Amino acid sequence: MMTRIIFICEQRHKIGISLKILLSLIEMVNRILTLLLIAFSCYSLWVYLYCDEKRIAPDAIASRGWKIWQEKNCQSCHQVYGLGGYMGPDLTNIAALRTEQHLRTFIKYGTGKMPNFQLSDDEVNNLVAWLIWVNKTGKAKVPASAVHWTGTYNIERQE
Ligand code: HEC
Repeated sequence: MMTRIIFICEQRHKIGISLKILLSLIEMVNRILTLLLIAFSCYSLWVYLYCDEKRIAPDAIASRGWKIWQEKNCQSCHQVYGLGGYMGPDLTNIAALRTEQHLRTFIKYGTGKMPNFQLSDDEVNNLVAWLIWVNKTGKAKVPASAVHWTGTYNIERQE
């Protein structure tokens, strides 16, 4: 009888201890998650503030070009900032490589591989303005040496 009571007490004691351990574990995980959340929020805030400083907003003409780019789905064949289709070339920095006249002619008439979208001269000019803006905002390929440890990179420091 006596041994049985002692046994039950011991079991209860053991359950109590393991519950305590479990609770402190949950509390620890909770603390770690809170810390991670705070760190992530601070990091996000910092990255956004850091990026905003360098932001170059597109003007009205370039914005219209951006809209046409989306409507005509140019991205299905072309990449900007390395993202998009692969049938045509990446156009992020095409404005630095070609003259405006070249871009205008290309977009207006297309080639055997690039379709002619029957765009008006205004629409073509908007698209060219947009490509010129895109060129100022980033690089298709960023050299590893230009990447900041936050994952961003400095546009001005590019060669
Ligand atoms: C069906 C796929 C396709 C679509 C959609 C497309 N393109 Fe192209 N584009 C190409 C291909 C392929 C080339 C390369 C053509 C060549 O070299 O003959 C090209 C080339 C270009 C070039 C010239 C690049 C250079 O090296 O000089 C520009 C600028 C361009 N496209 C802009 C656009 C714009 C703006 C749109 C949307 C209105 C668009 N493209 C939609 C396939 C496409």
